[in-house]
Amino acid sequence: MRCLLFLLLWGLPQIRRTSEVPQRNFPFRCLQISSFLNRSWARTDGLAWLGELQPYVWKNDSDTIRFLKPWSQGTFSDQQWEELQHLFRVYRSSVTRDIQEFAKMLHTAYPLEVQVSAGCEVHPGNTSESFLYVAFQGRDILSFQGTSWVPAPDTPQWVARVIEVLNDDQGTSEMVQSLLNDTCPQFVRGLLETGKSELDRQVKPEAWLSSGPAPGPGRLLLVCHVSGFYPKPVWVMWMRGEQEEPSTQQGDILPNADETWYLRVTLDVAAREAAGLTCRVRHSSLGGEDIILYWEQSRASAGLIAGAVLVSLLIAGGLLTCWFKKRSSYQDIL
Ligand SMILES: *[C@@H]1O[C@H](CO)[C@@H](O)[C@H](O)[C@H]1NC(C)=O
Ligand SMILES: *[C@@H]1O[C@H](CO)[C@@H](O)[C@H](O)[C@H]1NC(C)=O
Ligand SMILES: *[C@@H]1O[C@H](CO)[C@@H](O)[C@H](O)[C@H]1NC(C)=O
Ligand SMILES: *[C@@H]1O[C@H](CO)[C@@H](O)[C@H](O)[C@H]1NC(C)=O
Repeated sequence: MRCLLFLLLWGLPQIRRTSEVPQRNFPFRCLQISSFLNRSWARTDGLAWLGELQPYVWKNDSDTIRFLKPWSQGTFSDQQWEELQHLFRVYRSSVTRDIQEFAKMLHTAYPLEVQVSAGCEVHPGNTSESFLYVAFQGRDILSFQGTSWVPAPDTPQWVARVIEVLNDDQGTSEMVQSLLNDTCPQFVRGLLETGKSELDRQVKPEAWLSSGPAPGPGRLLLVCHVSGFYPKPVWVMWMRGEQEEPSTQQGDILPNADETWYLRVTLDVAAREAAGLTCRVRHSSLGGEDIILYWEQSRASAGLIAGAVLVSLLIAGGLLTCWFKKRSSYQDIL
């Protein structure tokens, strides 16, 4: 995994120079979340991602899919987009009704949660791959493969009945094939063009060190913070010289509000072994120049001492000023 990441980061700048098409992969994923509290209460919300970016949101309350990016319409004309949106609107109301009917037919207990994940990915060389998965109560139950619906492994018996009904509906199957085989890749090719500058954006990380709560007597938790980078792939490691520290713990990569990322990487060490350790950060935006931060053993205590000295000085200064003020006011009286 780490090797792959290395190769990817190392390879990126070279590949990009020779080609206009972004070479990182940008899967396009639409997510539909339908919640049914009871027989009459339902809502469906949608969102879509292109790689790490979210160009669309579609709230239940709205009749239109909201653009979150200036390039969200891709290279589709207003009319093409309007037709697509109309199709999704019809789909949204009929899918709600269909699920309610299935639930009635199968005597399913509420509340129900249905999630659909669908989309495609255009590869370099202009080939593409599409997918459509459906989950029920958080578990995969079926997907669309080639020309028909198929059950996920280990699904309950009733899923077979649902699939039978779905596969009898030739019209829907053809519509899904056309959306997955043609519309989606065509639309995504357009997005890769109109969104190119934002998709290719590179933002350098900032990195800093701190110490976490002591994991035990005589031990230190060294924390390396890496923030504000884009795109998401990053490599951060605690090192001794050129040697990786195998007990380095990597947190989840978390989103910042400005569509950049944050990562926290920690190391639990004996306090006397902390000196000489470094945190090393590698990212595509750094052009091969890793960020290297050195842990100084006396870092935390030096900070504390400096703080204590500063506070004493301030207090002393304050007292002196008061004393002088008092003296001068006494002098005024006298
Ligand atoms: C369904 O749930 C909604 C929201 O909690 C509630 O207001 C409504 O009365 C419920 N309807 C039925 C038929 O239970
Ligand atoms: C979701 O939208 C549908 C269609 O506009 C509406 O009938 C329904 O009441 C909405 N659901 C909620 C919970 O607002
Ligand atoms: C990619 O393939 C699609 C459909 O197969 C075609 O319409 C399009 O022109 C191709 N694009 C490029 C850049 O070759
Ligand atoms: C869509 O692609 C699948 C292969 O993924 C193929 O089996 C099917 O015939 C195609 N359908 C249409 C309508 O192009």
